[in-house]
Amino acid sequence: MASTIIPVNPFDLVIFGATGDLSRRKILPALLRRVVAGQIPEGSRIIGASRTDLSSEAFKEVVDKAINEFVGENKFPLADYNLFMDMLSYVKVDAMSDDGWENLATTLDTNGNEVRAFYLSVSPSLIGSTTENMNKFGLVTKATRIVAEKPLGTDYATAKELNATLRQVFDESQIYRIDHYLGKETVQNLMALRFANVFLEPLWNNKYVDHVQITVAEDVSVEGRGGYYDKSGAMRDMVQNHLMQLLCLVAMEPPSSYEADEVRNEKLKVIRALEPVDISDTVRGQYRASVDQDSYLQHVGDHSSKTESYVAIKAELANWRWAGVPFYLRTGKCLSKRASEIAIVFKPLRHHIFSQYSEVSQNTLVLHLQPNEGITMNMTVKEPGPGGMRLTDVPLDMSFADMIGEEVSLDAYERLIMDCIRGNQTLFMRGDEVEAAWEWTDHIIDQWHASEDTPFSYDIGSAGPKKADRLLSEDGREWREIK
Ligand code: BG6
Repeated sequence: MASTIIPVNPFDLVIFGATGDLSRRKILPALLRRVVAGQIPEGSRIIGASRTDLSSEAFKEVVDKAINEFVGENKFPLADYNLFMDMLSYVKVDAMSDDGWENLATTLDTNGNEVRAFYLSVSPSLIGSTTENMNKFGLVTKATRIVAEKPLGTDYATAKELNATLRQVFDESQIYRIDHYLGKETVQNLMALRFANVFLEPLWNNKYVDHVQITVAEDVSVEGRGGYYDKSGAMRDMVQNHLMQLLCLVAMEPPSSYEADEVRNEKLKVIRALEPVDISDTVRGQYRASVDQDSYLQHVGDHSSKTESYVAIKAELANWRWAGVPFYLRTGKCLSKRASEIAIVFKPLRHHIFSQYSEVSQNTLVLHLQPNEGITMNMTVKEPGPGGMRLTDVPLDMSFADMIGEEVSLDAYERLIMDCIRGNQTLFMRGDEVEAAWEWTDHIIDQWHASEDTPFSYDIGSAGPKKADRLLSEDGREWREIK
C-alpha cells in the first residue's frame, strides 16, 4: 500500500532558535524529508532566525552538518537535497531588542508566501519578547501560525501565563502547541480504530474493559540533559503531556466530527473527569548505578535530588463510561527496552464453557507506539490439529510496516509541521487542555513535595522499582512485560 502525498502550497517558515538542538535534530531533518517526499514545493522558504551572527551560507553549512549527523550522509537524491538547501536562508534577530526585526520583516514581505509559520524553538523565557517583537514589527498576518513546544509551562500558573502571553498577539486558532506523541502513527490509528470500525466501540467501556495500561519505557538515561531533567522529572517531562494525551485518546467520547475543536473538546472533558490522585496511588523511582553506568544522581550531579526518573500512577476517571476502570500509567528512563504501548485489557469471560480443557486468558488489545508501530489483538483460539479442545492465545497482528510494505518512516515532526502549514489543529493541544493537565499533575507533585516523598531505587535495565508492582497487585493484576 503506497502512501499518498498531497503537496502543500508554498509557505514561509521562520525557525527561531534555528541553530539549537531541537531544530538541528528534529525540525530541519523533518522539513528535508518532506521536500524529498515532494510535499513541500519549490518557492517555500525556511528562514533560520537567532541571535548568532551567521550568513545564509554559513547557516546552510550548519544545516548540512546537522543532516549528516542526525540523518546520515548522502541519503537523499542530490536534486532534492539542493532544492531543500535553496529554500534556506538566515536572518539575525535578537529576541530581547529591536535588532534584526526590520530585516526579518523585509525578508518576509519580499516575494513572501501567504502562509507564514513561526516555530518557537527557543527557551520559554524568550517567548514573550519574541512574540511582542513579531507584533511590533508587523510580522503577524491573518495566515500566520505560531508553533510552541514543551515545556508549555512547568505548572498550572506558568502554563496560564504562557497562554496569556501567546494570546496577546495570536488568536487561539493561530496557536499550534506541539506534543510530538500526537504525531505518532499509532496514536492517530487509535482514533481510526475506535471511530472508523463498528465492533470496538460497544466494548469500549466499563462493562467490558477491565483496565488500561499505558507504558512509555525508555532505555536511555538522562545523561547530558540532567540540568533540565532534574527540574522536571518523569511527571513533568512525560506524564503531564505525552501520557496524558494518550489517556485522552483512549478515554474520550466519540467527537461529532474529526474537527480540531470537536476532538479537543472531548479530550478536555477526559482531563477534567480525572479523579485527583492520592500519592499512595503513585510510585516513583530513580535508577541506581550499574557496573558500567552512572546513577541518576550522578547524571544530574546532585546527590540529594528527589526527582523521579520513573513514575507509575493509578488513575481513575469519574464518568459513566469509565468509572471503576483503572488506568495504570508508567514511564521511566534506563528501563529494559525502548517500548511504548497502550494495552486495553478486557474483562474475563463471565462463564467459561471450556474450563475442563484449559484456562482462557483475558482478551487484550495492544497498540504499539514504538518500536514497530502496529496493533495486536490477543485472542483465544483452538490449538490446531488433533488432540481435543485445547485452547491457545494467538495475536492477531497488524504491523503498519507490513501493511504499507516498508518501514513507517514518517516522523511525528514531519506530520505535525505539515498539519500546521495546512492549518489543521486537530493534532495540537489547545491552551485549556494544557492548563487542565497541569492542574491534575500539580496536585500529585505538590503532595510529593509536602510529604517529602522519596523515589525508590531501581536497576538499570529493569522494569522499574519493584514497589510499582504493588499498584496492580493490590487490585489482583500485574504489569505487562516490557518487550
Ligand atoms: C520528550 C522528553 O518530550 O520525549 C524526553 O523530553 C523523551 O525525555 C522523549 O526521551 C521521548 O520521545 P520519543 O518520541 O523518543 O518516545
